[in-house]
Amino acid sequence: MTNEYTALAKFYEDIIYDDKYKLWMNYIVKLVKENTLGKLGLDVACGSGILTRLLKRNGFDVTGVDFSQDMLNVAQEKSYNEKLNIRYLKEDMRSLKTLNKVDFITVINDGINYIEDKYLLKTFKNFYNSLKKGGTLIFDVSSPYKLKNVLGNNAFGDDGDNLSYLWLNSYNDEFKSVDISLSIFEKQGDKYVRFNESQIQYTHEVNKLSEILSSVGFNVVKISDALGNELKETSDRILFVLKK
Ligand SMILES: C[S@@+](CC[C@H](N)C(=O)[O-])C[C@H]1O[C@@H](n2cnc3c(N)ncnc32)[C@H](O)[C@@H]1O
Repeated sequence: MTNEYTALAKFYEDIIYDDKYKLWMNYIVKLVKENTLGKLGLDVACGSGILTRLLKRNGFDVTGVDFSQDMLNVAQEKSYNEKLNIRYLKEDMRSLKTLNKVDFITVINDGINYIEDKYLLKTFKNFYNSLKKGGTLIFDVSSPYKLKNVLGNNAFGDDGDNLSYLWLNSYNDEFKSVDISLSIFEKQGDKYVRFNESQIQYTHEVNKLSEILSSVGFNVVKISDALGNELKETSDRILFVLKK
C-alpha cells in the first residue's frame, strides 16, 4: 500500500480539474490575499501545482512542496510550459524544515488527510516554525462526514474516450480511515494501458485539530466550509485559517 501519488500524477489534473475546482482555488487565493502580511509563501502538498501556479500568477513568491516526485515532475513541467518560474521542493511535511521563514503556508485539498494522528502535532509544529511571526496557515481536510458517508465504501468512475477510471473505497471503522484504490485506463493506440494507485486518508475531527493547533501556538482566524460558509454537519470540507 503506497501513499505517494505515483501512477495518478500523470492524470491528476485531467481527473480533478474543472470549473468548480477553479472557483475553489480562486477563493483560496482571495483568502491568502486577505490574510497575509507579505508575499513569501509555501504551497505544501502542492501536487501538480494548480494552486502554486495561481498564487504565482497573482504576484506571490511561492514555493511548491510535495513528497511525490511524480507530482513534482508534472508541476515543474506545467510551470515551465506556462513560463512561470516556481521553485519546487521534494519534502515530507512531517519532517519539513525551511531555511527562510515565510509569510504564509497553504495545504489545500486533503494534504492533512494523508497524515496519521501520531504525526499531526509534529507536522503543525513544522508549519509554525516555518512561519514568520504574524504568518498565516491556511489548510483544509475532507470532513469526517465525507470520509465516512461520501467516500465510505463507495465506488466512483468515469468512462472517457481516452481516459477511464474506477475508484473503489473501503472505510475502516476501527481506524476511521478510507483505503482508496484507483485503476486508471489510458488509451494508447488501439489498446488501453492500466495504472494502479492506492492511498489511505485519515479522519480528523475539528475539535481534535483545534486542540493540537492551539497547543502549537496558532490562533484561529476562521473555521468554515471549503468556500468560507458556516460549517454544517454534512459539509464535505473543513477549512482552517490560522495565525502565528
Ligand atoms: C489531493 S493532492 C492535492 C494537490 C494540490 N494541493 C491540489 O489542490 O491539486 C494531495 C497531495 O498531497 C501530497 N502529500 C501527501 N502526503 C504528503 C506528505 N506527508 N508530505 C508532502 N506531501 C504529501 C501528495 O503527494 C499529493 O500531491
